[in-house]
Amino acid sequence: MVTVANSLLTQSETYSEYNASTMNDKQFARWVELLELRIGVRASALRKTFLTNALDIRLQTLGLQNYNEYDDYLHSGNQGEIEWFELIDLLTIRETRFFRHNSSLELLQDYALNKLSQFKNVGQQSLKAWSVGCATGEEAYTLAIILDQTIKSAGDKSCYFSVMASDISHSALNAGRKGTYSSKQLNKMDEKLIQQHFTALGNNQYQISGQLKIRVCFNKVNVLDISQKNIGQMDIIFCQNLLYYFEHDTRIKILNKLTEYLATDGILILGPGDIFQWDNPDMALVKGDNTLAYRKSASINPGTNK
Ligand SMILES: C[S@@+](CC[C@H](N)C(=O)[O-])C[C@H]1O[C@@H](n2cnc3c(N)ncnc32)[C@H](O)[C@@H]1O
Repeated sequence: MVTVANSLLTQSETYSEYNASTMNDKQFARWVELLELRIGVRASALRKTFLTNALDIRLQTLGLQNYNEYDDYLHSGNQGEIEWFELIDLLTIRETRFFRHNSSLELLQDYALNKLSQFKNVGQQSLKAWSVGCATGEEAYTLAIILDQTIKSAGDKSCYFSVMASDISHSALNAGRKGTYSSKQLNKMDEKLIQQHFTALGNNQYQISGQLKIRVCFNKVNVLDISQKNIGQMDIIFCQNLLYYFEHDTRIKILNKLTEYLATDGILILGPGDIFQWDNPDMALVKGDNTLAYRKSASINPGTNK
């Protein structure tokens, strides 16, 4: 745990006096530092209002008088640890959709088909995928649907697949675990797929099928802290619309770390524009239209990734 117990305002400064319009640059810089240490997000000066709005909501909810009291609260043991979840939820953008980026999903399907055809030679019988920054689960369930369809269409009854879904946001993960979505959230999805993989609950709510749900496992993982987790080797790492939270150098560090969790010949699928100028000797760019993906070279680390 990162502990930063600095007082950000003097005791006499009150909430009513210090809001978005009056937080000065020095105070803002202190909060930015605190948040960067804790969740790795570098809030730019442009996002000052966003930050202070989030802090003000928490001050009001907790009945605290100023940012200084809130800082103390965040560093007050267990209740502070729980409060971090609330603040992170307000500061993270969890926009997501089922079947969000078609070209990347086609690439995933091609990759899975190709792997299935190789399985007979290498004796592998499972595909493991990881949705990094999965938000409320739509991306992870999309990966599960595609893998399920691909394996069935290849007529491969022996292949098992699983998806690990990770995020820093507690409430997003809980929504994913629940697996209930509104008709609006499903509106871009093929009707046939909805019928196959969801059960209508009434009130425009749909429940992901138990068969898919058991393949997807939700875990709280901060991408800046991956090395502390026992994650194992993945065939597919899907990381889209997450890296933009971070500065270029941090993005590179995250990608290099993710690479360690990729099995030999595994694929890392990013969003187009998620990174420029990333050069990792283990990874080869996969050519494709409107996609950004890298494959782990088979020749570099035969048998292991470490
Ligand atoms: C915009 S959503 C993207 C969701 C999904 N990948 C997609 O493309 O539809 C970004 C997600 O990244 C998560 N996130 C932000 N910082 C994170 C961190 N340090 N570690 C893990 N997840 C993080 C947010 O909570 C949010 O759910």
